[in-house]
Amino acid sequence: MKRVITYGTFDLLHYGHINLLRRAKALGDYLIVGITSDDFDRCRGKINVRQPLMERVTAVSELGIADEIIIEEYEGQKINDIQKYDIQIFTVGSDWTGMFDYLNEYCQVVYLERTKGVSSSEIRGERRNIRLGIAGDDEYLIKFYEESQFVNGLQVTAFYKERLTGVGEEYKAQTYVTDNFDKVLDLTEAVYIHSYPQRHYELIKRALQRGVHVLCESPMVLFPEQLTELEELAKEHHCILMDALRTAYSTAYMRLLLLLKGGIIGSVKSVDATCTSLKHQKKFETGDLRKEWNTICAWGPTAMLPVFQILGTDYKSKVMASHVLNEDESFDLFTKIDFIYENAVASIKIGQGVKSEGELIVSGTKGYIYVPAPWWKTDYFEVRYENLEKTKRYFYQLDGEGIRYLLVAFCKAIESGISPGFIRREVTREFVHVIHKFYGKDFYKI
Ligand code: CTP
Repeated sequence: MKRVITYGTFDLLHYGHINLLRRAKALGDYLIVGITSDDFDRCRGKINVRQPLMERVTAVSELGIADEIIIEEYEGQKINDIQKYDIQIFTVGSDWTGMFDYLNEYCQVVYLERTKGVSSSEIRGERRNIRLGIAGDDEYLIKFYEESQFVNGLQVTAFYKERLTGVGEEYKAQTYVTDNFDKVLDLTEAVYIHSYPQRHYELIKRALQRGVHVLCESPMVLFPEQLTELEELAKEHHCILMDALRTAYSTAYMRLLLLLKGGIIGSVKSVDATCTSLKHQKKFETGDLRKEWNTICAWGPTAMLPVFQILGTDYKSKVMASHVLNEDESFDLFTKIDFIYENAVASIKIGQGVKSEGELIVSGTKGYIYVPAPWWKTDYFEVRYENLEKTKRYFYQLDGEGIRYLLVAFCKAIESGISPGFIRREVTREFVHVIHKFYGKDFYKI
C-alpha cells in the first residue's frame, strides 16, 4: 500500500485545498493530512488564521478525502511523521517548490501545481476590509505602518501627521497623508493614535464621535474622568476603544500569565519590572520638554502591566519617587513606584535618563519567573526553583515586536464588536489613575 502525506493550515477551506487533497490522494492508496496547530502557525508567522484548529480539522475531515488526520505541532516533525507512518510520498503545492527537497532522503517528494486564483489570505482579505488611519508624530508610526502590511484585511488609507515635516512623508505614494485629522476620519473606520499623551483625549474623542474605532498608545488619557467619558462615548457609538500595549499581545507574555494562574511558582509574593532607555537623553537636555513623552507616560503603562495583571489593581498603598528635570516637575527622567498589596508587593523602575537591567522577576512561594531584558519584547523566559536543575525554559516566536498580533486582536475586536479581554478595563483605568497622581505631584523628589 502506497502511503502519502501532505501538510497545510487549511484555513477557510477552498477549492484550491480540495484540488490539492484529491490529487494527493490519487498519488497513492492512503492519504494522511497534517494540519498545523494554532501555536505552530503563530510560531511560523501565520498570524491571520481565522479558524481554530478543531474547525479546520472538521472541515478537512468532512471532505472525506483524507484517510487519517494528524496535527503538525513543531518544526522538524515531518521527518518524524514520514518514518513513523511509513510514508512513500510527501506532497505539497508548487508554492513550496524546492523547500522540501531535503525530505527526498526519506521518501519521494512531489510538488503539485497550485490552483491559480485562490488562497486563504485572499479570502480573509475579501471577508474583511478595515480601513485604518494612523495618527501622530513619532518614529514608531513607521514601524507600525510596516507591521500593518502583515495583517490580512487591514489597509492603511490615511496618515495624519501632526507636524508638517517628518514622519508620514515617506508614505505619500501609498496612502493619503494629511495634517487634517477630520479628513483621516472621513477615510477610515479605525484609527491608531500615537501622539502626545496630552493630545490623546481630544483625538480619541473626535474619532469616537464619528463612530471610528480607536487603538491608542498608553496612556490613553491623563485624567480618570476623561477615560470614563471616552468609555461611555465608545459604548454609545458601538466603537472599540483599546490600549495599544503590544507586550500584552506577545505569546510568551500571555503564556507566562497562564502559567502563573496555574500555580507554577506557588503563590506570587512580588513582581519587579524595570524598563529603561537612554536614547533620547540629548533631546531632554536641549529640547522642548513639552513635546516629549516623560518617563511615567513612556514606560509607566508597560511596567505596570504585569503588576496589575498578576496582582490586580486593588493594592493598599503605593509610594512613588521621581527624579524630575524641569521646573514645573512634569518631566521625570526616572521614577520608582512601590505597590503594597494585602499579601504581596510590587515595584516598577522606569527611566529615560537612568539605565538599569530591563528584566521582569515574579517571585512566588515555590520558585520564580525570570524574563531577561528587554522583557517587554519578550520571546523567552525561565521558571526557576531552588534546585536549578528543575529550571524550565520557554520560548515563543515574537515577530514585529508584537505589533502585528496587537493589530490582529484589534481587527478581531472590530469584527466581533467585543473588546479583547487581554487588558481589562480596570487595568487601563489604573494606569491613568497612577499617572494622574504623578501629575498631582504625589511623589518624593529624588
Ligand atoms: N494550495 C493549492 N492551491 C491553492 C492554495 C493552496 O494547491 N490555491 C495548497 C498549498 O500549496 C498547500 C495546501 O494547499 O499544499 C495547504 O495550503 P495552505 O497554506 O493551508 O493554503 P493557502 O490558501 O495557501 O493559505 P495562505 O493564503 O494562508 O498561505
